Amino acid sequence: MQPRRVYIETYGCQMNVADTEVVLGHLSAHGYERTTSPDVADVILLNTCAIREHAEERVLARLATLARHKARRPDVKLGLAGCMVQHLRQHLLERAPYVDVLVGPDAYRRLPDLLAEHSHDPLVDLRLDRAEVYADIVPRRERGIRAWVTAMRGCDRFCTFCVVPYVRGRERSAPGPMLVEQVRDLAAAGYREVVYLGQTVNAYHDGQWDFAELLRHTATVEGIERIRFTSPHPAEMSDRLIEAMATIPRVSPYLHLPVQSGSDRVLRRMARDYDTAAYLALVDRLRAAIPDLALSTDLIVGFPHEEAADFAATLDLVRAVRFDHAFMFKYSRRSGTKAHAWGETVGEDEKAARLAELIALQEAIAAEKNRDLVGRTVSVLVEGPAKRPAGWCFGRTPHFKATVFPGPAASGSLVRVPIGEATAHTLIASLTPPLHSRPPSPTCPQ
Ligand code: SAH
Ligand code: SF4
Ligand code: F3S
Repeated sequence: MQPRRVYIETYGCQMNVADTEVVLGHLSAHGYERTTSPDVADVILLNTCAIREHAEERVLARLATLARHKARRPDVKLGLAGCMVQHLRQHLLERAPYVDVLVGPDAYRRLPDLLAEHSHDPLVDLRLDRAEVYADIVPRRERGIRAWVTAMRGCDRFCTFCVVPYVRGRERSAPGPMLVEQVRDLAAAGYREVVYLGQTVNAYHDGQWDFAELLRHTATVEGIERIRFTSPHPAEMSDRLIEAMATIPRVSPYLHLPVQSGSDRVLRRMARDYDTAAYLALVDRLRAAIPDLALSTDLIVGFPHEEAADFAATLDLVRAVRFDHAFMFKYSRRSGTKAHAWGETVGEDEKAARLAELIALQEAIAAEKNRDLVGRTVSVLVEGPAKRPAGWCFGRTPHFKATVFPGPAASGSLVRVPIGEATAHTLIASLTPPLHSRPPSPTCPQ
């Protein structure tokens, strides 16, 4: 029998990217193969995100476009998976009654059954499962040097702005030995970097191992050059974990540590469980243990009742910490969350102005920090060809700085690169003669 072809698009965070790989792994074990073209697909799936309103609007617009395939070929099954399905439920059924299957993040095992069923009405499975970690399903991963491994799912923190605990359910960890086994297979398959994922990944505990222990075991796997994880929660950053980061050479000296705001008043209303003093003390502890640590963060502007003074405090914190990188967002009001009841108190224009000011400050800091690396030689794990110039390669330093340099170099190899220039986002190799007059070298990777 011909395998059925599945086309899938992914929205949202890396956890969703990793979930798509689980879905594809599971479906391929049930006779499906992936296609990159919706025109020839038997099944079209969107793996959706609910974190901000914009994310949901994008999916609804895309769904309307993809529905045309179903209109032309009525046998095509159209499915929605992921966080937005869990968040919007009834609303989605009303908005898009032509969708065949709706599955929440804990119901992917049922997809083959639901897709095989013949029904005029949409089939819906939104059950959240306190135990589901999909540890036995082999994900169908993108080729490359980096593999994402979901260490824990769900979140118990209920920050007042966030939908994740409602759409992904309670926190649970995959068994450590199974994760290490997965990493061993990844190394054998040629992956060089592993990134553990979880909404509060450093709260990982499988009953035996905490996250520091998981890192120690993972670091014994030969072939994996770098180990990272995202996102840790500041309130869960134990001394054991800091020590593990400081002492295990394969664990990258890079941490994404979302702070959200620099105002204690706002942090309290967000229910983040730390204040700015605690966050800054944590940064000091981390930098004392790992002196060249690179730090990135997430920041929200325009949270309900964020006054000008609160925003100024966020700017102060950003100046004090000097992050290497930041993801910055306008607050988006989410139904079902506690902050929803507080409405919107910061106008759209004011939010946009605060965001622009914050981005300008952060970009200037990132550019300065990167310029400090000019003249130094950095170690780069090669990922593949750079977008430009032709013949150049792209990779990242242990501090996760994007770096471009003249090829050739094989992806997965480690090279040393002298830095000649830097922007806020990229380190550029130094060259003699200067970069623009050099003829193209052979394409990368070899
Ligand atoms: N678990 C991570 C964050 C996951 S969501 C943590 O606790 O740090 C990724 C980021 O999206 C968050 O850090 C936050 O900055 C942003 N975010 C979440 N909900 C949001 C909302 N309602 N409006 C705007 N940004 C939001
Ligand atoms: Fe959302 Fe807070 Fe959980 Fe992060 S820790 S996923 S921001 S509730
Ligand atoms: Fe979005 Fe769900 Fe991730 S809401 S950010 S895809 S956990």
